[in-house]
Amino acid sequence: MSSTASVLTSLVTLGPVSAIPEGEGRTYVVDGRRLAVFRGRDGALFATQADCPHKQGPLADGLLGGGTLICPLHSLKFDLSTGKALNGECSLQVYDVTLSDSGQVMVEF
Ligand code: FES
Repeated sequence: MSSTASVLTSLVTLGPVSAIPEGEGRTYVVDGRRLAVFRGRDGALFATQADCPHKQGPLADGLLGGGTLICPLHSLKFDLSTGKALNGECSLQVYDVTLSDSGQVMVEF
């Protein structure tokens, strides 16, 4: 007998995009779960798990640029669109993120 696990997600409003300065990230907690949202200097938004899969570094404090993020602890570099590490074995959980007409950050989480 086999079973299929499914993950339920819902569209969550995190707040105004103005709360995230361009070129930076912020950590949010939704129902006890943590995620990080990043706002590129070009306005692109990305959402990932909040803690680095290597040793739990705070990803929102990482160095953001060109759709990539460098973890502040040991410099693993991640592609924020796919979550894949560009210089290591681990990868990030990524989430769909959009901006509402009223400037609210919305995440499928
Ligand atoms: S904790 Fe992120 S690279 Fe080590």
